[in-house]
Amino acid sequence: MGIQRIESATYSIDDLDECVRFFDDFGLFLVERTDEHAVFETLTGQTLHLDTDPGPLLPPPVENGPTLREVVWGVDTRQELDRLVAAAGKDREIRVSADGVHHTVDESGFGVGLTLARPRPAPVIPRPANALGSVDRWNTALEPLGRAFPLRMCHVALNIRKEGRQEAVAFYTDRLGFRPTDVVEPMGVFMQAPGDDDQHTMLLCHRPDRTGVNHIAYEVPGFDDVIEGGNYMIDKGWREARRLGRHTVGSNVFRFVHAPCGGRVEYAADMDRVDDSYETRHHETTPPHHIWALRTNRDNEAS
Ligand SMILES: [Fe+2]
Repeated sequence: MGIQRIESATYSIDDLDECVRFFDDFGLFLVERTDEHAVFETLTGQTLHLDTDPGPLLPPPVENGPTLREVVWGVDTRQELDRLVAAAGKDREIRVSADGVHHTVDESGFGVGLTLARPRPAPVIPRPANALGSVDRWNTALEPLGRAFPLRMCHVALNIRKEGRQEAVAFYTDRLGFRPTDVVEPMGVFMQAPGDDDQHTMLLCHRPDRTGVNHIAYEVPGFDDVIEGGNYMIDKGWREARRLGRHTVGSNVFRFVHAPCGGRVEYAADMDRVDDSYETRHHETTPPHHIWALRTNRDNEAS
C-alpha cells in the first residue's frame, strides 16, 4: 500500500522550555528531554521532536526562525519502504540514520523521511450524543473535559512557492504515492496518503514567494475536545490564531493556536473520510475557507 501516516515531525527551535511548556499544555506526552532537545508523543505513538541543534541529516531551514524541518512518513511494509526510497532518491541523496529512517528533501526544501510505521492503537471513545429520535446517552450528565489530548497528527500543511508548485506536488504524488483529493487552482493541493482515510493528509499551499510551515493538525475525538482544548491553551497564555470554525474542504472542525516552534497547530475533529470512489475535485476558484466560523456580537464583553 505505502505511506500510512505521519510518523514523526522535527522542528528546529530557539526556546526549548517554551516549546516544552506549549506541547505539554497542548496535550502531548513528553518522553525524552535533554538540554538540547525534547521528544513528545501522541496517543498513537507518533513523535514530535523539538531540537535546538538538529543534526546534519536534515536540510537547511526553509525560513528564518523556529520552523518545521522534517516530516517522516510511516510506510506499511519493508518492500514498500524500499520502493519509495528508490523513487524518492532517484535524483537526490538519501541518508539513513541509526534509527533506520531514510532522510531526503522535497522540492521546496523541507526534509522528508521514510520509515516503517509503528502504529499504536489508541482508545477512541466519542461522546455519546442525543437528538430527537436518536438518543445515545441516558441518565448521564456530561462532565467537562478540561483539556484535550490529541490522538494523532492527522495532516501537515506547508507553504510552498507558487513558481514550481507542480513539481513540488509531483514529488509527493508521483514518487510517494499521495493522491490529490481537492485541487484548488489559486491556492493549493490537498492530498491523501494511500493508507489514510482522511480527506487530506497533506496540503501544499502555494504562496507568491514564501516557503515555510503553515500548520500541523492533531485529531481529537470530538467537537468538545476542540473547544475545551483551545480554551485550555488560552487559559495557559497561548494565542489563538483563528476563530473556531468548520472548514469547507475536509469539513473538519478546527481551532488554531500560534506555536513557538513555528507556524500554528490545529485541533481538528470530524474530518471527511474518503475512499477511492472520491474522485479528485478541481476548483477553478478558491472555495470559502469555512462552512461556518464562530461569530459573536459580544466581543467587548467579559463573558
Ligand atoms: Fe488543517
